[in-house]
Amino acid sequence: MSKVWNGAFKEDTDKNVEAFTSSIATDIRLYVCDIKGSIAHAQMLAKQEIITIDEASEIVRGLKEIEYEIGSGHFELSDALEDIHMHIETRLFEKIGVAAKKLHTARSRNDQIALDLRLYLKEEILEVLELIKKFQENILEIAKNNIDAIMPGYTHLQKAQPILFSHHMMAYFEMFQRDKARFSESLKRVDVMPLGSAALAGTTYNIDREGVAALLGFSQISKNSMDAVSDRDFIIEFISNATTSMIHLSRLSEEFILWSSKEFNFIKISDAFTTGSSIMPQKKNPDVAELVRGKTGRVVGSLMNIITIIKGLPLTYNRDMQEDKIPVFDTVDILKSSLNIYIDMLQRIKIKKENMLNSAKKDFLNATDFADYLTKKGVPFRDAHSITGQVVSYATEKEKEINELTLDEFKNFSNLIEEDIFENLKLENIINRRTSFGGTSKKNVLDAIEKAQNEIN
Ligand code: ARG
Repeated sequence: MSKVWNGAFKEDTDKNVEAFTSSIATDIRLYVCDIKGSIAHAQMLAKQEIITIDEASEIVRGLKEIEYEIGSGHFELSDALEDIHMHIETRLFEKIGVAAKKLHTARSRNDQIALDLRLYLKEEILEVLELIKKFQENILEIAKNNIDAIMPGYTHLQKAQPILFSHHMMAYFEMFQRDKARFSESLKRVDVMPLGSAALAGTTYNIDREGVAALLGFSQISKNSMDAVSDRDFIIEFISNATTSMIHLSRLSEEFILWSSKEFNFIKISDAFTTGSSIMPQKKNPDVAELVRGKTGRVVGSLMNIITIIKGLPLTYNRDMQEDKIPVFDTVDILKSSLNIYIDMLQRIKIKKENMLNSAKKDFLNATDFADYLTKKGVPFRDAHSITGQVVSYATEKEKEINELTLDEFKNFSNLIEEDIFENLKLENIINRRTSFGGTSKKNVLDAIEKAQNEIN
């Protein structure tokens, strides 16, 4: 096939090379952005009298038809045409003839692809921000609806101290606040219009880059043509931010997987969000949470992928960069589908408060507070810690909890211990004493939920 660029070529491209170098199967996804960019470019060329107004309107009409053709599945893809840019330009020529050949004036595919990616990511980041917000709203709902549920808090996956389940949920709210801040911050660097950098050095035509930026809704234009066509920082940043969000989701997934097991039995994931086993009839597996945890690996892989592609590339454009689309698209798909499925799953999750509470009552979660009790009666904390250790050993031997010992038994360890110890060791009191800012007392958590609600609206 004759190609738009093969004037100087004596031989046709090898078929295997065409297949190897083609990116159309992937970058077809950019067609809306590519057409949007081309329309703005054509309008600018006409305004600057580089092409005529008639030519520009022919081009715009043709491009809109092509947009419809691709959208409705009436568009043939061919490896011989390499990428989305060549497909659209070739089709445009078939439709409108010679005016199509003027569209690429003062432009290169190098600045064109940079533009497409930036248009694409600007929209996707806004959608991601919206999804994270919805996800957080559901986290807040769960926290509010279960404000009093007490559960064991863990370190090293060993029971540590009693906490409010709502406090645990609000920890995830905080993570996603930071994630949103990262995405919003990065948006400023995506929101830069590269077109007009041409191949690498700028162009000899009297173009209006600010005008194109305004048409396309960019708030800045790139300041260095060489940087503009070789910069993929904005993609690295996006995938890195997505990786952090996925890692947060994978931690929640891990907790849901553990909590929904018979061993913990703290939550029930709705049947609609679990799947059965083909051999074991009793099983309900938390596959959604497992897959989110697993897909996180793919996003981490995409981050490695993109930074490795860009590492050591000399300026400016290199064909290696064409490989950036696979990690970007895969990351967008995984992040959005994971958030979406979580938004639905969270609405139907059941919290088994009784089981959480019973678990928090066992295994000495009140030991720190027992030590604090002694400390407040004047025992230095290190000594109080050691006495408490002895009490825990003793209670373990007796197969009792600390609060199940009698006052007489306590007196064998310290005669500072009095009747008020029992009130002191109640789980609600343990929790509600933790009033230090950011701690798990009910008042703190209620305040945190209220602030969070104001923050996201
Ligand atoms: N398909 C290319 C990419 O995705 C577009 C730019 C191609 N430029 C070039 N000189 N071959 O990166």
